[in-house]
Amino acid sequence: MRAFDSLDHLPKQDLYAALVRETAALLGDERDLIANAANFAALVWQQVPALNWCGFYLLKPDGDLLVGPFQGRPACVRIALGRGVCGTAAVTRQTQLVKDVNDFPGHIACDAASRSEIVVPLLRGDGRLLGVWDVDSPAPARFDAGDQAGMEALCRVFMASID
Ligand code: SME
Repeated sequence: MRAFDSLDHLPKQDLYAALVRETAALLGDERDLIANAANFAALVWQQVPALNWCGFYLLKPDGDLLVGPFQGRPACVRIALGRGVCGTAAVTRQTQLVKDVNDFPGHIACDAASRSEIVVPLLRGDGRLLGVWDVDSPAPARFDAGDQAGMEALCRVFMASID
């Protein structure tokens, strides 16, 4: 088990900068998708305050997003492209920053405690979609542009870690 010092005393920009370094160190030379996705989710869960869920939905050959490595309560298993915040991020290939999930038409409530979320699409170098990275909070408007930039930077480190 790898132990990392708490970062929650840091200003947001510094927290994400430190987390980018920790992510690169944690993933190291490993290239396995599931191993790196599992450790990535565990590290974000440990280091980013006020989350109730974080994890991956991975695009399957049948065209659905299937839940992958995550932290938090058991989650919805399959999400169709275009459905919910995750399916919207996948189809638009744009990060979805949702201040209040009740205002997002079609939001899928896996955990009724979720009030705000960020979903980052994960694109391979050749443009193919791997899936999405989904982070939820029980606090309304928990995430802002700084969290979006931070989560996108973390996802770039993750995507660079796999083949
Ligand atoms: N909130 C997501 C569903 C996945 S869970 O939150 C784990 C959505 O609407 O896409």
